[in-house]
Amino acid sequence: MKSQKVKVGLIGLGNIGKTHIKNLTTTEQIELVGVCDLVREKADRFAAECETTAYYSHSELFRNSGLEAVIIAVPHYSHPVIAVDAFRQGIHVLCEKPLAIHVNDAKLTIAAYEEAKQKYPELVFGMMFQERTLPFYKKIKEIVDSGDLGRLTRASWINTAWFRSQAYYDSGDWRATWAGEGGGILTNQCPHNLDFYQWVFGVPARISGHAHIGKYHQIEVEDEVTAYFEHESGMVGHFMVTTAESPGVNRLEIVGENGRLLFEKDKLLLFRNRISMLQHLQETNQGFGNVEFEEIEIEVDKDVPTGHKVVTEKFVTKVLTGQGELIAEGTEGILSVTIANGIMLSSFNKQMVELPFDSDQYERILQDLIASSKFRKAAAQVIEADISQSFSK
Ligand SMILES: NC(=O)c1ccc[n+]([C@@H]2O[C@H](COP(=O)([O-])OP(=O)(O)OC[C@H]3O[C@@H](n4cnc5c(N)ncnc54)[C@H](O)[C@@H]3O)[C@@H](O)[C@H]2O)c1
Repeated sequence: MKSQKVKVGLIGLGNIGKTHIKNLTTTEQIELVGVCDLVREKADRFAAECETTAYYSHSELFRNSGLEAVIIAVPHYSHPVIAVDAFRQGIHVLCEKPLAIHVNDAKLTIAAYEEAKQKYPELVFGMMFQERTLPFYKKIKEIVDSGDLGRLTRASWINTAWFRSQAYYDSGDWRATWAGEGGGILTNQCPHNLDFYQWVFGVPARISGHAHIGKYHQIEVEDEVTAYFEHESGMVGHFMVTTAESPGVNRLEIVGENGRLLFEKDKLLLFRNRISMLQHLQETNQGFGNVEFEEIEIEVDKDVPTGHKVVTEKFVTKVLTGQGELIAEGTEGILSVTIANGIMLSSFNKQMVELPFDSDQYERILQDLIASSKFRKAAAQVIEADISQSFSK
């Protein structure tokens, strides 16, 4: 009979690694068989704390720990490399966001997963999109999926609650560089928002992106982005994000013919039209008057488990039993990467991008940016951070 615990290894013991350690050591179905970091001192320290074994490379962890599943929590460029190695050895993967820096690497990771499944049909691949567990976001998705808003015309998301200081960017050599991180706010902070956007509305058909590089911070990647999306359905989207606004705001508006949904400050309001606005605009003989509407506050049960722990629990349940749904399938990780790359490609080329776009062209631009980079980082400083403050507000 299969063991009742999944043998899990964790790679990457930085900011988010600490959150994973907490979850892994308090989840009954998990046996933490090894922790791994290139920095030996970190691996040794966390291994001692968790009474497990330290490894200093993922290959060594894969070879010697007897793990069945791995959580990948290292800087983004290494996500595909480690995931592909894991799949080839039949190791289940829960990958931190983003799946990859660019679409080509995301495709390659998914291809390795599909290929490995021929040999290991039970292989599980999940993405750490823990924001899908947030009660308001779940409710918004439920309302949109129900079709109650009718034909959608607009979705506008201002998310500037991602404030980051210069000290944050200086805190790691890899951060906010083309070579180390491959992007700025779209690659680091916004994968959750982009995933939520595509989860609810799908991937746009056309993207117009306007990204400002190092506008407020001494960094070589984007810290302020405005994007305009067009969907096949006719719906338009707006996406406005920055790490340089304080106090920031997280305001999402979704407009359909039957009303407008507004999420802001832990409040979800529905302005519900008495009749379809599209019908009204065709049929009324009045030139100006609005459609009659009522304002309803949507009740949302906030007292439910959320976050990384829920994603991890669903993942190990699937590994153990083959049953249940993941919060996010690994293969869905490519969708937010596609939107992020599409925005940047449009911004670099100063023209609207049709999807699917030329992912080789995007990769080439990225390689050129890396090759021509003259940016030198100030010596990395360690800042003590409570990572939970970085999660979505
Ligand atoms: N889901 C979330 O909300 C969330 C939050 C924060 C970070 N993240 C993601 O987690 C990843 C790590 O972010 P972080 O802020 O913890 O970074 P970090 O720099 O604080 O930590 C990364 C750690 O990985 C180690 N490392 C680097 N390459 C490695 C390798 N090849 N093998 C083993 N160890 C290696 C480093 O030594 C470091 O200890 C990023 O991809 C980030 O996007 C996700």
